[in-house]
Amino acid sequence: MKTLYIKSSPRGERSKSIELWNHIIEKIWWEVIHLDLFNSYIPFLSEWVIAYNYWFGEYEWLSSEDKKIADVQKEYIDQIKSSDNIVIAAPMWNFWLPGALKTWFDLVLKINDTFAIENWNYIWLVKNIKKTIVVWARWWKYIDTPFAPYDNLTGPINLLLWFIWLEAKNFWLEWVNYASWEQLALESLNIKGEIDSFIAA
Ligand SMILES: Cc1cc2nc3c(=O)[nH]c(=O)nc-3n(C[C@H](O)[C@H](O)[C@H](O)COP(=O)(O)O)c2cc1C
Repeated sequence: MKTLYIKSSPRGERSKSIELWNHIIEKIWWEVIHLDLFNSYIPFLSEWVIAYNYWFGEYEWLSSEDKKIADVQKEYIDQIKSSDNIVIAAPMWNFWLPGALKTWFDLVLKINDTFAIENWNYIWLVKNIKKTIVVWARWWKYIDTPFAPYDNLTGPINLLLWFIWLEAKNFWLEWVNYASWEQLALESLNIKGEIDSFIAA
């Protein structure tokens, strides 16, 4: 069994989403593939790589810079296709997800590789993932509050995952910079308990 762990906060030891993520690592002892988005090559798709992805060009025609993009795109897709579980740790940034995570999605949601469209039918090509977990941290409280409509993250991130047929379980740590240290520790403990129950199920 392999688990792909994706970190999308650059805050290292200070990161609350990574704290939850570390908790999951301790629980799942299978082989782990680490992908730290802020310390990895996560390029934007270029004009010629998009053309290549949509069959308007051959790999050999790409420049060495574009080949690097196409190669790393393949590497990230291979990571997904060779994993049994995916765990993503992410902060909320400006009501949305960090750009590095969105760029990773732009690379891995690839036609005829992770999904296909045939005769106007949508086909999912990622069939190996058993569990997908997203652990989030954010400053404010959105769940069950009047601020829920400002949460432009939970819906879209789940939609991006669903695009390749991954149904994620989300765990949110809220009020990160607002709650007292004791409140936060308690909340974090509660969420870790929920994570444990989900993993054990
Ligand atoms: C650039 C930036 C934008 C942020 N935008 C929001 C936001 O829109 N809503 C929110 O609740 N918190 C926001 N925060 C606070 C973070 O979500 C919070 O610090 C969280 O703990 C970050 O996750 P991490 O601890 O895993 O890095 C923002 C933080 C940064 C650095």
